[in-house]
Amino acid sequence: MVAINHIGIAVKSLDERLVLYRALGLVESAREEVPSQKVKVAMLPVRGSQIELLEPTAADSPIAVAIEKRGEGLHHIAFEVEDIRATMAQLKAAGFQLLSEEPRPGAHGSQVCFLHPKSGGGVLIELCQPGH
Ligand code: CO
Repeated sequence: MVAINHIGIAVKSLDERLVLYRALGLVESAREEVPSQKVKVAMLPVRGSQIELLEPTAADSPIAVAIEKRGEGLHHIAFEVEDIRATMAQLKAAGFQLLSEEPRPGAHGSQVCFLHPKSGGGVLIELCQPGH
């Protein structure tokens, strides 16, 4: 069965938005800067998955651009895959566009790739192969 590794939420400030999620009973398990995406990430485990809060670290961060266009809020859904290169090849063979030819380094040693927004039916989809 496919798992949702995490749900990404764009925020202006991790610390300000964490007040809400702490009040909901969530606890931050890890925080990390991901230079390749120009974000700071806080992971909040929920049963069977995680919430990923994303704060931009630069004005040209994809998250800064998303907040500029649509405000804070739901940003992407990350499906967990065992072999990201194989899944990328399957999607390309099926005619879907990816945002990068190669997987990119994500948080916590993971490898990630986003589908092109045109291919996602209004949902930004991330493939995520967890690090070990
Ligand atoms: Co993500």
